[in-house]
Amino acid sequence: MSTVTTSDTPDAATLSTANTTHAVQADQANHAAAAATRALEARYGAPWSAPLPAWNATLDALLAHRSVRNYTSQPLPEGTLETLIAAAQSASTSSNLQTWSVVAIEDPERKARLAKLAADQSQIREAPLFLVWLADLNRLEAAAGRSGASAEGLHYLETLFVGVIDAALAAQNAVVALESLGMNAVYIGAIRNQPEQVAAELGLPPRVLPVFGLCVGYADASRPAQVKPRLPQPVVLHREQYDAPSQQHGIAQYDDVMGAFQSSQGLSAAGWTSRSLARWRSRESLHGRDRLRDALHALGFELR
Ligand SMILES: Cc1cc2nc3c(=O)[nH]c(=O)nc-3n(C[C@H](O)[C@H](O)[C@H](O)COP(=O)(O)O)c2cc1C
Repeated sequence: MSTVTTSDTPDAATLSTANTTHAVQADQANHAAAAATRALEARYGAPWSAPLPAWNATLDALLAHRSVRNYTSQPLPEGTLETLIAAAQSASTSSNLQTWSVVAIEDPERKARLAKLAADQSQIREAPLFLVWLADLNRLEAAAGRSGASAEGLHYLETLFVGVIDAALAAQNAVVALESLGMNAVYIGAIRNQPEQVAAELGLPPRVLPVFGLCVGYADASRPAQVKPRLPQPVVLHREQYDAPSQQHGIAQYDDVMGAFQSSQGLSAAGWTSRSLARWRSRESLHGRDRLRDALHALGFELR
């Protein structure tokens, strides 16, 4: 009697290939799980106890984010700026109003002047590219003017919120994009220390607010930055309703994690609570941003 091999009965060679494929897949899954665990534990500075989620390169990149303040002098490849802005413009935008703009600064002298206006932060001078992200209500206001339409809505606080939110979403898309390309960045909120002077330096029309800056460049490997742990999830993640009392425990844990992180960076071992409260201790601790409302009025925002 002869043995018939049909497509339903795999021969030994086929079985062996299938086994190898399964082994390779299992190996890849193990690697992905290990990478996910490493990334999650670095992000929280603590063991990850929840079930491991599905994982991919996008999550890897997001979880690996760290602000970088030291750059090499390596210029950015041609087309980088345009690619980053395409990523930024791909972010959602309220009602498709696109109430943001960005000014790209590469001129060393202008960067130096902006650094002076932003607490003299040396990374602004060092980064090959400095982006200032703007809440831009002027563009639609000008369009209204051209078409003789009323634009009363732009004078309300809500509309400024729209611009600030749009600018933030766009900028963060650019950050994800640049990090995926092997570059790094740090936001510069200090660009709001002296908003009128920044507006003058950048030639901004009325009703355009510098929301924050962004230094972009290649990280200097001799001065590396580490992933900074975040608050434990139960502190920020509320299920169904906001739960204030249960936050205390996680915050105390995080104070220890951040104290250890700070020490590992050669910084004072102060925990997150004390460091954060120092930023809110007094009017002076806002570094000039206590007068933001006045600055907004000066820049043409009525904030009704
Ligand atoms: C809106 C915004 C403004 C910031 N401003 C500054 C700044 O002026 N200077 C600075 O060195 N870092 C600034 N940062 C970076 C934060 O300090 C940093 O994101 C935070 O400490 C968490 O660290 P990580 O980004 O490395 O995870 C800013 C971040 C954001 C989101």
